[in-house]
Amino acid sequence: MFKEIGIFDEMKQTLDKLNGKGILLIAGDPPNPMTIGWGTLGVIWNHSIFTIMVRPTRYTFPLIEKAMDFSVCLLSDSFNEQLAFCGSKSGRDHDKIKECGFTMEPGIRISTPYIASSYLHYECRIVHKHFLDPVTIDKSIDKRFYPKKDYHMVYYGEIQGVFSH
Ligand SMILES: Cc1cc2nc3c(=O)[nH]c(=O)nc-3n(C[C@H](O)[C@H](O)[C@H](O)COP(=O)(O)O)c2cc1C
Repeated sequence: MFKEIGIFDEMKQTLDKLNGKGILLIAGDPPNPMTIGWGTLGVIWNHSIFTIMVRPTRYTFPLIEKAMDFSVCLLSDSFNEQLAFCGSKSGRDHDKIKECGFTMEPGIRISTPYIASSYLHYECRIVHKHFLDPVTIDKSIDKRFYPKKDYHMVYYGEIQGVFSH
């Protein structure tokens, strides 16, 4: 069972979680969960947009490159161990859904599923993407976060719905 809520109703909580232990990005077919800590919620092109950032070194990268959409799942603190696991282990070496004991539910408006035991999820359709530009990025950010020059791809997801369960 799920209930659709207003798109930005849980914005503060979502940003607090991003800034804390993270939230789970689900992308790919078969789907792979990856913990994310960077992202923004806002309005662009008159659309409600969730931007997320994926380094090309992630297993998630080729998956989301092929995908039309992604989901973002918020988990309660009792899942902090699973969040840490999905943020340190790769889908290359682990079936993270199985090892975390997650059950997936079909997406309500998108093809990517969501985690049944999450309490809230966003469904997003990819409408734009680009790599960060090493030429124009602030030099101190470049030095601190990109010593390996593995610049993130930024994905702009038009939010199709936000659901609590
Ligand atoms: C709290 C936290 C936040 C993270 N945020 C991001 C992020 O926003 N983008 C990213 O590319 N990796 C991020 N990572 C790293 C990935 O989650 C990690 O490398 C993961 O193992 C990649 O999984 P995959 O290889 O299955 O895609 C984060 C890790 C943690 C623990």
